[in-house]
Amino acid sequence: MSSPAHAFDEPKSFTAHWIATVLLIVAFVLGLLIFPPLYEAPTAEASSSVLFIGRFHPILLHLPVGALGLLCFMELLCVTRRGESKYGDAALLTLFVGSAGAVLAVLAGIMLSREGGYVGGNFTLHQSMGILGTAGVLLALVVRLLAMGRHSTELLQAYRALYFVSFGVMGLGAHFGGNMSHGSKFLTQHAPEPIKSQMISMEKWMLSFVEEPKPEKTEEKAPEPPKAVETAPTPASPAPVASGDKLVFQHIILPIFEAKCNKCHNEEKSKGDLRMDTYELTMQGGENGKNIVAGKPEESLSITRIMLPIDDDEGEHMPPEGKDQLTKEEIALLKWWIEQGASNTQKVDLSVIPADIKAAAEAIVKG
Ligand code: HEC
Repeated sequence: MSSPAHAFDEPKSFTAHWIATVLLIVAFVLGLLIFPPLYEAPTAEASSSVLFIGRFHPILLHLPVGALGLLCFMELLCVTRRGESKYGDAALLTLFVGSAGAVLAVLAGIMLSREGGYVGGNFTLHQSMGILGTAGVLLALVVRLLAMGRHSTELLQAYRALYFVSFGVMGLGAHFGGNMSHGSKFLTQHAPEPIKSQMISMEKWMLSFVEEPKPEKTEEKAPEPPKAVETAPTPASPAPVASGDKLVFQHIILPIFEAKCNKCHNEEKSKGDLRMDTYELTMQGGENGKNIVAGKPEESLSITRIMLPIDDDEGEHMPPEGKDQLTKEEIALLKWWIEQGASNTQKVDLSVIPADIKAAAEAIVKG
């Protein structure tokens, strides 16, 4: 037989591959030692170069997604001996590029987390599964190199299993990262019903491993702020908004926060350590406290930050420039609620909402 031997059968040297792989693993481990993953708010301020590199995380993560995604198809081609001899080298290279990308993305992600405000179940799962998946892919790289060096089909199969599982873990971890930047409902919102409930219960199940059981929403039982007044007479429109038992905070104020603020001030991402997804947390405030001072909009940090010019020199205007801004009416409603005592129990029905913002309030209550 004169047919040429397959490349797979020829002795090959993988020295350079081994060196690159070992260097990559060392870089990963060293990176994790220097920047250990944290699951609580960082205590010390990170240097600006660390924060600068961290911001590349959202770009870098596309590299492993692309390379390791492509590798799925390549590995399907490589399941036959012939495919392996044809595409094995290319698969190895793709695996290496994907692993290196994953290492970079993980390390940049950890640096990004040093900005603070990254806490909660989605973050915990995102970080843990990102690191675990990357470690798995690195191990897969080692096994593939061994398999190719020894021409072992068994090792190749073991490698493939390891790679697919690791890539799956990484993908799930990536999903929880997506929840952090786009909100937890982003993927499921438009999903067809049966899939939607499946996805949501899957997600809940996974989150239940890392989250404390959530207390039920704060609705009634929240304590009154010190100087809260039930209703305060304002000279404006006398006719109350007819809305049953709706509460001003729950049905007017919170929806404004949800729409304009809570992408960044929620349980998954609490920028400035501020969360405004419940009444207590809104009143508790963030790093600087005084988020809402009952009766005094001008002393309430949220209001002063909203009122700063959008191109404020310190970049302290809220919501940050480029994000969906509050309308005039929304600002007026927030101020009005604070003037009234920033209550959690004030009823929409019994409130006298000034005429110029009544329509806006009604629209929000109706949803
Ligand atoms: C795109 C993300 C984003 C959105 C949307 C956003 N914020 Fe912020 N917010 C931040 C970041 C980042 C910080 C921390 C850095 C700083 O203090 O500027 C912050 C800090 C704050 C602080 C300071 C907390 C403290 O104690 O230091 C307040 C108050 C605040 N935001 C209010 C709001 C309000 C009110 C809205 C909605 C009208 C809003 N933010 C919307 C990103 C956002």
